[in-house]
Amino acid sequence: MVKKPELSGELVPGLILKNPVMPASGTYDYGEGANAFDPSLLGAIVTKSVAASPRAGNAPPRLYETPCGLLNAVGIPSEGVDAFKRHTLPGLKKYDTALIVSVAGETPADFIKVIGSLEEEEGIAAYELNFSCPNLGDGMPYGTDPELLALALKKIRKVAARPLIVKLSPNVADIRLMARRAREAGADILTVANTLTGMAIDIRKRKPVLGNIFGGLSGPAIKPIALRMVWEVAGAVDIPVIGVGGITNAADALEFIMAGARAVQVGTANFANPMVMLEIIEGIADYLQENGFAKVEDIVGLARK
Ligand SMILES: Cc1cc2nc3c(=O)[nH]c(=O)nc-3n(C[C@H](O)[C@H](O)[C@H](O)COP(=O)(O)O)c2cc1C
Repeated sequence: MVKKPELSGELVPGLILKNPVMPASGTYDYGEGANAFDPSLLGAIVTKSVAASPRAGNAPPRLYETPCGLLNAVGIPSEGVDAFKRHTLPGLKKYDTALIVSVAGETPADFIKVIGSLEEEEGIAAYELNFSCPNLGDGMPYGTDPELLALALKKIRKVAARPLIVKLSPNVADIRLMARRAREAGADILTVANTLTGMAIDIRKRKPVLGNIFGGLSGPAIKPIALRMVWEVAGAVDIPVIGVGGITNAADALEFIMAGARAVQVGTANFANPMVMLEIIEGIADYLQENGFAKVEDIVGLARK
């Protein structure tokens, strides 16, 4: 009998994943998804982004299906950090897996407010910073300008004792620059990447389909782009990379891991199949076993060698 492969691993000190699969922020509610299975089975729980104050999000329509993709202009609705701490966080702490709280903000001060408030709470393993907030409070594109990203991160780093995962925007000319500046400014881990900006037009109404005009494209349509970016970032920095974008099965996840990702996130695919993350965990284990690999680490970046 061949020994079962080891799925767990430590991404950075203090952040141990049971397996390399976790939900992408915003596609699994605050952490309990569609309640299709026990979230303790996941590599980690990633909450939807928590903002400093309650936010309603964008005007409808907010979702539009495209060939092999989904455009969303949800606009990060949030209950705000105070309500999150009171109502949502206690329930999430009961799961036996790492809890990653996604934080959204329009300015560095917003991130500092949320993280400052969460630092006193136990049971959080790391923060994932979502710089793709749509309304840009002070008009500064923190998510797409390397210098502004670094400026924001240096300020946020000072208040965060826990590991900081910086989720990069793919809507840039060279994601390697963003990755390098984020790492220099204090990022411990990078998530690559968020949605690609897109739009659709209703030719009968002769108007943009989404209430917000632009939305973020996700799903299988973006997988080759996200994979290319993971490859680039994993080659540009020496900190762990989490790959995300269009993953719908174990083979997709394995591609991201072989490109250099230490773990993956699954987003849009959860809507079509609430069990997909468990299937991916199982599929990765089967691949390792069938191919004689002892642990996930053995195949990280394998396609680069
Ligand atoms: C409906 C929806 C809501 C999302 N909300 C968030 C969010 O709150 N914070 C965030 O960082 N990313 C958010 N995302 C982006 C996803 O986390 C992920 O980066 C993106 O969808 C690409 O992965 P996928 O192709 O597997 O969906 C959202 C995506 C969708 C489809």
